[in-house]
This record gives sequence, structure tokens and C-alpha cells, in this order.
Amino acid sequence: MKPSAETTPAITKMACCEWVMKKTNSHNQNCSSLHNKEEVGARDEQNPITFANETKDGPNASSLVCPSMRLRRHKMLRTLLLFAFALTCVVFAGHVEPVLGNTDGVTSIFRPLSQPAQEIKELSVLVLAICGSIFAVVAGLLVYAIVRFRHRAGDELSEPPQVYGSNQIELAWTILPLLIVFVLILVTSRTIANIQNRKPPPTAVQATVIGHQWWWEIRYPELGIVTANELHVPASDGRGSRPTFLKLQSADVAHSFWVPLLSGKTDLIPNRENLMWIEPTKPGTYPGNCAEYCGTQHARMLIRVVVHPPDEFERWAREQQQPASVEPSAAPGRKVFFANSCVNCHTIGGTSAQGKFGPDLTHLMSRETLAAGAAPNTTDNLRLWVGDPQKIKVGCLMPNMQLTDEEVDQVVAYLETLK
Ligand code: CUA
Repeated sequence: MKPSAETTPAITKMACCEWVMKKTNSHNQNCSSLHNKEEVGARDEQNPITFANETKDGPNASSLVCPSMRLRRHKMLRTLLLFAFALTCVVFAGHVEPVLGNTDGVTSIFRPLSQPAQEIKELSVLVLAICGSIFAVVAGLLVYAIVRFRHRAGDELSEPPQVYGSNQIELAWTILPLLIVFVLILVTSRTIANIQNRKPPPTAVQATVIGHQWWWEIRYPELGIVTANELHVPASDGRGSRPTFLKLQSADVAHSFWVPLLSGKTDLIPNRENLMWIEPTKPGTYPGNCAEYCGTQHARMLIRVVVHPPDEFERWAREQQQPASVEPSAAPGRKVFFANSCVNCHTIGGTSAQGKFGPDLTHLMSRETLAAGAAPNTTDNLRLWVGDPQKIKVGCLMPNMQLTDEEVDQVVAYLETLK
């Protein structure tokens, strides 16, 4: 017997057991056993009559569920959905807090401390708000439709009203998204133009950043400085604007320069020069990393931007312009260094070491880290690095020079004079 719209009101008024008995023609079953089985007959293969009726019913089989059971299942489903929603909120809040909040040391795109990162953030908040509103409306309507028009007993023979060719609805869902997309295109284009059209003022610092596997070469052509993995720039303060303009190049594969607190990502592409600029206002050290997969040690291709107050930047530049110091006590290490092929890859200012393949070591000890941020620049790490670079950075292109322990100590003592 199939339920219909006409029979449903009668069923809801009927006592549960009585309803079930009638529905299944199964007088030899009692209600409690049915409740245990949740669905009458659907799994009752021992009763040939019930099972046959059930399978004949096909898609209407669910109509054989007792109304009180259905209510209980809906309540359970609702509780489960609420629980899942609450859990999602908690997890999401846990992730968003450090991103949006003030947790120091987090390289958050939501806490920019320089142009153009601030302008990019303002744009992204606007885009996020528009997209978030669209999501809320669409998801809200979807949830409303799912709950309001869910399947009910007696729905089988009726169909919801079918709407075709409504001009109002079709115009609304064509024009509204077009307007939204147009607004997004305009605000995005304005931000891109503002950032790309900025001309360097005469006070600007010019630097070239060259990506290598897996470190950053940094050159200041106007200042005559070459360094690695640490970009030093002046802060713009009340005394004037002093942005740093960067030319981005690559010596091998594609890399990407990304310091989230200062700017968006820009790729470094072989045989091409990309441009970007930053204008931080707050002195400090800003960590960043290569944001384009570039091989084994892509994850350990970290960059640090050190922002100095203007006077301090001048002092740093003067120190970097000096040739390497020569200390008599470091003579044994210097001898080992120049007797090996270290000189083919590294430059030490004022000496015959003029290699270009690896980082310039003239002022190695002024840098905070070794191997592009793979380890802090300490004596122990330096010894480990010179002894066997693969122990710190597997796959890096600096070979193990097979030095004895004594030679390693001597070279480290020499490198530590390169302040
Ligand atoms: Cu360089 Cu990834």
C-alpha cells in the first residue's frame, strides 16, 4: 500500500504501533522490535510478505518509517549538524586568530607594515568581504531550501511548482554578477596600476636580487655592495620617503620573492627582469621565503629583509663597502681556503677569491644565518657547514671539500674574521 497525500493526515494521528502494523500487514511483529530495526521490513528478510512488499515499493520504502522515529532522526541530524558547525567555527577561529591577530613573529599578510603590502591588503579585504557576502547569501539560501523543502511523508505523489523562463529572475542573476565582477575588475586594476606605475624618487635605494638554487644574491650597484640572503633597506620615516626598488633576476630556475609583511609575491625568471618596490616604515627584521618551487631545497631558501633607521642604514652600507679584514691570527685558515677550490665559487673582497657561483663572503659574519636561513650563523653551525654542507642542507650545491678536522677549524677561524 502506497501512502498518498490523502492518507497522511490520518497516519500522523494514528498510534505508532497501529500505523506500522497497517503499513506492513505484519501482525506478528511488535512495535519495539520494529523500533530496534529502525525501518520496518526494510531489513526484515525473515518475513517474506513484508520483504516482498518493501522491495516492490522501491523508492517509496522510506515512507514505511514510523513518524516518531523519523522525528527522532531529524533531531539527531540537526544536533549533529549544529555540532559540526560549532566545531568548524572553533577550528577556523583557531587558525584565523594568529593570522588576523597581533601575534608577533608571524609573517601575516593581514598585518602589513609597508607599502605596497598595505594597499594589497585593503584590496583583499574588500574582495574577501564581497565574496564572503555572496557565499553567505548562496549558502544561506541553500540551507534554507534544504530544511524548508526537505522530504516529508506524503510528498511522493506531488511535485513542487516548476518555474521556467522568468525574465525577472534571469535578468537578476545575469546583471547582478556582471556588476560585481566589474567592480572587482576596476578596484583590482586601480591597485595594480598604483603599484606598478610608481616611479623611484631620487632618494630611492636600488638593489638587484638574483635567485640561485638555493640562496639569494643581493647587489647594490650604486653603493658597490654585494651580499647574500639579507636585504638591508632604510625605513621611510617622518624625514622623508625612501623606498627600495628591486630588480629581480634568476641565475637558474624560476624563484619567487615573497616577504609577506612588505609586499606581494614577484617571480624571478631566467632571462628576464621583474621589478618591485617596498617602503617599510618600521625598523626590524622581516622574514620571507622563496614562493615558487625551485628544487630540493626550495623550503630552505629563506630571505630576511632588515629595515634600518636611515642613519643606521648608512652605517651598515659604509661597513659593507670595506674590503675584507686581514687578521694575522687567521693566516692558517686563509691558506687552507685559498689552497682549495673555495675561491672558485666565493668572492672575498680585496683578495684573489673572485668566484661568482656561491655567496660573497666578504662580510659573512655580519649575517644572522647560514645557507639562506637553514641555520643560525654560529661557530658550531659554521664548523658543521664547512665540514659537510649536506649535513645542514641536503642536496645543496656546495660540495664536501674533504677537509680534516684541523683544517675545518682553521677555515672557520678565518671565516669568523670576515666581519
Ligand atoms: Cu627558490 Cu623556491
